[in-house]
Amino acid sequence: MKTTRRTFLKSSVAATLGFPAILSAQNPNSNLQIVGVGCDGKGLSDLKEVGSHARVKYVGFCDVDSNRFAKIDQLFPGVGHHSDFREMFSKLGKAFDAVVVSTPDHMHAAVAMESMRLGKHVYCQKPLTHTVWEARQMRLQAAQSRVRTQMGNQIHSASEYRTGVKLIRDGVIGKITAVHSWQRNSGNGYTKLTSPPPSGPVPDSLNWDLWLGVAAQREYAPKVYHPFNWRDWQEFGGGTMGDFGCHILDPVFTALELGSPLTVRAENEGLNAHTWPTAETVQYVFPGTAYTKGQTLPVTWYDGGRLPDRLLGQLPPGQELARAGSLFIGEGGVLMQPHVAMPQLFPVEKFSGFSIDKQPALNHYHAWVEAALNGTETTDNFEYAGPLTEAVLLGNVATRIPNVTLSWNAAALSLPGHPDAERFLRRNYREGWEIKAV
Ligand SMILES: NC(=O)c1ccc[n+]([C@@H]2O[C@H](COP(=O)([O-])OP(=O)(O)OC[C@H]3O[C@@H](n4cnc5c(N)ncnc54)[C@H](O)[C@@H]3O)[C@@H](O)[C@H]2O)c1
Repeated sequence: MKTTRRTFLKSSVAATLGFPAILSAQNPNSNLQIVGVGCDGKGLSDLKEVGSHARVKYVGFCDVDSNRFAKIDQLFPGVGHHSDFREMFSKLGKAFDAVVVSTPDHMHAAVAMESMRLGKHVYCQKPLTHTVWEARQMRLQAAQSRVRTQMGNQIHSASEYRTGVKLIRDGVIGKITAVHSWQRNSGNGYTKLTSPPPSGPVPDSLNWDLWLGVAAQREYAPKVYHPFNWRDWQEFGGGTMGDFGCHILDPVFTALELGSPLTVRAENEGLNAHTWPTAETVQYVFPGTAYTKGQTLPVTWYDGGRLPDRLLGQLPPGQELARAGSLFIGEGGVLMQPHVAMPQLFPVEKFSGFSIDKQPALNHYHAWVEAALNGTETTDNFEYAGPLTEAVLLGNVATRIPNVTLSWNAAALSLPGHPDAERFLRRNYREGWEIKAV
């Protein structure tokens, strides 16, 4: 039997569709009271977009760097500041309904799991978590707490991705035989480091211990971790796969209803003990679905300047590959889905008279607010985003044990025969920062 995301997750889908445990904003005139954790960088735009909903009221902003409140304060003045999300949660108690999590990746699960345990709805940035195990726990906790969730890969709701998904679903290029996805960035391209640099003084504004959170103690160094450049480090981020996998593979997952891969294998350049490889290729094999041809579907990811052979996509002479995106190879044509632009169909002659039915954009942020207020469902909830993130982060497990085909036992969260790889499914938590299994 073909295993689809739907069949694999059937039981927990049913659980998630129950009513939320807490809807303190059920009164049609009341607001959804939200706190933000991580208030600058992507957090600033998350809070701006969520806060543009008429029924959102912010009741707390948390950031470990006091210099990072200035911009959000201009948009939403008078909201209380906090540096430790745990203290904010306990101080506010029942006075908040929902949490926007926009911290660096290594802290997503710590913040979001505690939020959900408290019965709060969660909007959490991509990748949903830093490890495969955490992605599983997030999905289970969301189902158990019956809260409304949304991962922050907002392009999921954009017209460009929705249009590509619809074309594939409509069978415009027939059943899919292979997918190639790429992003040209390098895994340690922001710092170009392969080991921690000499330490430097911690800025007065920054609580470095809280920034580290679940991660082991290490010396602060300017400009290489906070802000933004934590992406390069295995301890905090996920390299190019972590940064872009949940964006670029999202329309692939949605269109084809993918779930857990059967196998994953990676090869790379520049692997070291601290930062992500400069370039890599990750090959997944997924079980076939209603939208694919045959029993299995190969999906290949390329980064660091590696690209799929354009001939694989049968692109016409002079046709450039997008800077980042996917090629869906179908029985009856090829669809290139750029990240982020309208899909293109090939061969050009075959589709010259074909009019692409552009799908409207949805408001990714407001959809979550509406779900929390009204009990409706989001399309990018943790039931969907959990398995997508698991698959993305399995790529990062494979890249640490290169040139080996790993079989994935999704139900058991194991890589049979490869304890060396299995240890990368989860991380060590600093004492006092452990995340409890659901
Ligand atoms: N969806 C997208 O298009 C998109 C784009 C960029 C970033 N992101 C994601 O957003 C998240 C943040 O990325 P960024 O580029 O904004 O990083 P950043 O380092 O620039 O900003 C993170 C913010 O969180 C704060 N912070 C760090 N640890 C914290 C903690 N424990 N508690 C409270 N605040 C904390 C920082 O001080 C900073 O203000 C990441 O998960 C990233 O992958 C998503």
